[in-house]
Amino acid sequence: MKIIRTIAEMQAWSDEKRRSGAVIAVIPTMGFLHDGHLSLIDTARKSGADAVVVTIFVNPTQFGPNEDFDKYPRDFERDAALCEGKKVDAVFAPSAEEMYPKDSSTWVVEEKLSRGLCAKTRPTHFRGVTTVVAKLFLATLPHLAVFGQKDGQQARIIKRMVRDLNFPIRIVISPIVREADGLARSSRNKYLSEEEHRNALSLSRGLGRLKAEIEAGETDLQRLLGGLRAEIEGANGVVDYVEAVDAETLEPISRIGGKMMFPVAAYFGKTRLIDNILVEK
Ligand code: PAF
Repeated sequence: MKIIRTIAEMQAWSDEKRRSGAVIAVIPTMGFLHDGHLSLIDTARKSGADAVVVTIFVNPTQFGPNEDFDKYPRDFERDAALCEGKKVDAVFAPSAEEMYPKDSSTWVVEEKLSRGLCAKTRPTHFRGVTTVVAKLFLATLPHLAVFGQKDGQQARIIKRMVRDLNFPIRIVISPIVREADGLARSSRNKYLSEEEHRNALSLSRGLGRLKAEIEAGETDLQRLLGGLRAEIEGANGVVDYVEAVDAETLEPISRIGGKMMFPVAAYFGKTRLIDNILVEK
């Protein structure tokens, strides 16, 4: 497995793979890999990739001033070993200086889907994500890219960016991977105390119940969202949002029907977690 630190070397590696006819997949990550990330590698292979590139870069531009950039967990050696174990072909792990020249002044901004949900409390987050993902695409030159449904809003924004800017890249969205107890896998789970972890199970429990209720015929959206909120607050969670949106456009919905996504964000202690469930009716 090749470990690549510079954009020039990364582009040369991908050029070579492309010339040999290989289908390249990229999996952008911020490292501290867990089973959720590793499942994206499997999804890439199942989606036709011959060569898989995992990028590991804790992107400073997507963190707000009071967020956890400095303490975001990092363990490159462990990440590299996990990638090696999954037969990843290359890990691209550039420095911040390599990714952002000192006088860097260009942003990639998606202006519709990036406004609601997480953007309400993290107003500059998604322009950091779209900018870095566009840069990672241009460095790794993939045919396809895999993102997790756990970051459901992010995945829709990237799809929109790729469509709007004509990136010749297929975006594949891979299902949420959960711990045995239901908590959605996230690098931030590491911040949770045992008690906070237990309380955070209210997210998956509440979402699971909401889906079951819809499938059983419940149509009162306010009652469903109220039940989810009560479940989280009953477990000492501080709700940032619980919403019902169209699964593709992320527009709020006013009645049950079609392809829906129910995204949620809540704090357990100081840790902000997100989760969601897709429901079709
Ligand atoms: O989902 C993440 O880990 C990050 O937002 C991403 C896509 C790697 C961009 O930094």
